Amino acid sequence: MAPTAVLIGFMGTGKSAVGERLARSLGWDFVDADPVVEQDMGMPVTEIFSRLGEAAFRRAEERVVLRLLREAAASARGTVVSLGGGAVTIPAVAEKLKAEPRVFLLDEDVDTAFQRACRQPRPLAAGAERFRALFAEREELYRSVAGFIIDTRGKGVEQVAGEIEDLMRGNNTEMNDGRKGTP
Ligand code: S3P
Repeated sequence: MAPTAVLIGFMGTGKSAVGERLARSLGWDFVDADPVVEQDMGMPVTEIFSRLGEAAFRRAEERVVLRLLREAAASARGTVVSLGGGAVTIPAVAEKLKAEPRVFLLDEDVDTAFQRACRQPRPLAAGAERFRALFAEREELYRSVAGFIIDTRGKGVEQVAGEIEDLMRGNNTEMNDGRKGTP
């Protein structure tokens, strides 16, 4: 059994880039859930949405995320897992995350997140208004699931990963819900 760190947050908050960087500096494995869903389904996320619909995507996402978290827990090495932005909307995933000790929410300004999210095809980032509405709709959910909230505004990948690493090494023990301790 080895530790797992889970990165959550809205589209365009840098979960994949930060996760990769964090894993590298910790010497841990890194796994990004969306590419695994794509592999499992044999098509890109955009196609899963357009051909099979969002509900089918969520079913596949649930299966993959729960499997990745199980595998990470059983691994001999530490693992950083980056989740897709909507994974927290799946009740079984949200429940599982609430029991995980190292769940980091990347908290970004919605307009910056939208600019970043638009760089790659994302079915739920087609328009700024819809994007903002979804962001507002999910905000509370992210916070309720996160153990730690990382303010990423104006920060680069390296800095955000460094802050998470500091938290994990116990250099800063302030936790979201008031508990104290090293994640
Ligand atoms: C989604 C976020 C995406 C991807 C899918 C749905 C969401 O992942 O899973 O397009 O509902 O927020 P990223 O957060 O990596 O963009």
